Amino acid sequence: MISYKELGLVNTRDMFSKAMKGKYAVGAFNFNNMEQMQAIISACVETKAPVILQVSKGARDYANINLLRNMARGAVDYAHELGCDIPITLHLDHGDSFKTAKDCIDNGFSSVMIDGSSLPYEENVALTKQVVDYAHEHDVTVEGELGVLAGIEDEVSSAVSHYTRPEEVVDFATRTGVDSLAISIGTSHGAYKFTPDQCTRNEEGILIPPPLRFDILEEIEKQLPGFPIVLHGSSSVPQEYVKMINEHGGKLADSVGIPEEQLRMAAKSAVCKINIDSDGRLAMTATIRRIFDEKPAEFDPRKYLGPAREELKKMYMHKNIDVLGSAGHALD
Ligand code: G3H
Ligand code: 13P
Ligand code: ZN
Repeated sequence: MISYKELGLVNTRDMFSKAMKGKYAVGAFNFNNMEQMQAIISACVETKAPVILQVSKGARDYANINLLRNMARGAVDYAHELGCDIPITLHLDHGDSFKTAKDCIDNGFSSVMIDGSSLPYEENVALTKQVVDYAHEHDVTVEGELGVLAGIEDEVSSAVSHYTRPEEVVDFATRTGVDSLAISIGTSHGAYKFTPDQCTRNEEGILIPPPLRFDILEEIEKQLPGFPIVLHGSSSVPQEYVKMINEHGGKLADSVGIPEEQLRMAAKSAVCKINIDSDGRLAMTATIRRIFDEKPAEFDPRKYLGPAREELKKMYMHKNIDVLGSAGHALD
């Protein structure tokens, strides 16, 4: 058993209570490799923001749990070396079973998600409670989920979404003891969230997708005052990256993400954690494609991964400052 406390990591309890009071959300950024981790940490140190390093089941399979844990330990030292001891959480994203969650808790994770959202309600309650009971023995925090997002949830693909039912949230939170709750109010996973046909155009010709269901969020806040809420599927699919990818040999279909202003609004509410993965994938891919196209003779991975890491860092800084509002809150 390796406790996250030995690694210098923190759980989300304090982080979320400060985010709630300060009316901002903490960025939960997925990572699978060293360059992504470096970009996340350097961006969060430079903007003095707390951060959640998020590991999916796919990332565990790709990168190995021992390496990931040691990278997170390294992230704590790296932040210190860069000059700011920002709070860092190592979180399991979309845990699919008690076994996976336990394995992460036993291997230095400070927070886990158990995603029983596709199960019948009572089974979701039972599974989530089982994880909470074990996690809390080790002072690890747990995120549960109610409602189903469209798109790809880790390895579970869901074509049919349904919004969170506010009438279920009190019963779920009370019976499971979860520390935070992921909800479904119109976000979805992946780079293909809304097609242009599903959007309207504003005066500047920019495609605007259907707004998030802030009415449902408000009702949930009424039911569970002061309870930390999580938004998954919150990439904005920056059009400059989509364009760059397609200009340099890529073939992405037209797609529209969640407008940043809507996420800014959500971050001011009980939403304390906002998950962003796809935007990072787009930023990295766009930079690497540009370099491959412009310098076809280049074959030193540092010459394309380095600039990709720089672009990622810029993007995470922008999220912390302009979208989540977490910048400047690391030492609250
Ligand atoms: O919600 C899912 C995350 O974006 C992780 O995706 O399973 O491909 O690592 P992944
Ligand atoms: P995006 O695909 O919108 O980045 O969402 C990521 C996510 O929710 C990870 O859990
Ligand atoms: Zn997710």
